[in-house]
Amino acid sequence: MRLAVRTHVVSRWCVVTPYYADESVTLYYGDCRELMYDLRGPIDLVCTDPPYGETSLEWDRWPHGWLDMVPSFVQSLWCFGSMRSLAGNWAEFKRSGWAFSQDVVWEKHNGSGFASDRFKRVHENATHWYRGAWADIYHDTPTTADATARQVRRKARPAHTGYVEESSYTSEDGGPRLMRSVLQVRSMHGRAIHPTEKPVGILDPLIRYACPPRGTVLDPFAGSGSTADAARLTGRKAVLIEADERYCELIAKRMSQGVLVEPLPSLTPVGADEEVG
Ligand SMILES: C[S@@+](CC[C@H](N)C(=O)[O-])C[C@H]1O[C@@H](n2cnc3c(N)ncnc32)[C@H](O)[C@@H]1O
Repeated sequence: MRLAVRTHVVSRWCVVTPYYADESVTLYYGDCRELMYDLRGPIDLVCTDPPYGETSLEWDRWPHGWLDMVPSFVQSLWCFGSMRSLAGNWAEFKRSGWAFSQDVVWEKHNGSGFASDRFKRVHENATHWYRGAWADIYHDTPTTADATARQVRRKARPAHTGYVEESSYTSEDGGPRLMRSVLQVRSMHGRAIHPTEKPVGILDPLIRYACPPRGTVLDPFAGSGSTADAARLTGRKAVLIEADERYCELIAKRMSQGVLVEPLPSLTPVGADEEVG
């Protein structure tokens, strides 16, 4: 793997020359563990999907040490993973000072597992982490406008769940209610330009939740650049890093064309009707 050549051409975010840049997206080619060190702000959120380390794809190795290299001014992180990969690397999150806040389940329309002796795996996890005081972390409460009008009574709770006074309120028809933590979004199966490409539909609510409008999202494992697509569609900027130059080319094409590009056959070595990560 060739690392990006260090020059002293100063871009907005880094002293390394970007592989691609436009008014909302900056892409760096190289190992994020080397490049993140040079990043400066403002970056409001890391939203990323590192290799889970579960397939034989050549790049699919958990990149130990990457969490230590996330710039300390970044306080909020969404990280995709399977339970196996997240649990196996949980200590690295803690060692790097990340506190766990919540997880969201992405339910796909098709499966992503290869085992024939287990439940059919149709989901991925997205975990949210933060550093510092929760009150200082940007989070825009996610709601859906589908409440039905009814009288909601909140009963006093048993002591072990904490005291809550009895109360009631009337919800409005079509009013807001908290978005559920299981999100059903069609996978990119059949349309993907990367074997583990995340659809913009699952990235959109995560970015809106944790990155302020006009803020900047960093994805150090960019793959096909879907995080940048979701960022610009939601009015945010994106900084991407990708270690495989073939994907950098695809991202540059995707960003400059503003449309989906065709996958390269050699980049989509996924089983017949399955996809991973
Ligand atoms: C799981 S994929 C990301 C897919 C992406 N979320 C998408 O929607 O297309 C992980 C990507 O990280 C890249 N990668 C692996 N190790 C890396 C490293 N140390 N630094 C930067 N990129 C790396 C791989 O080449 C791969 O494209």
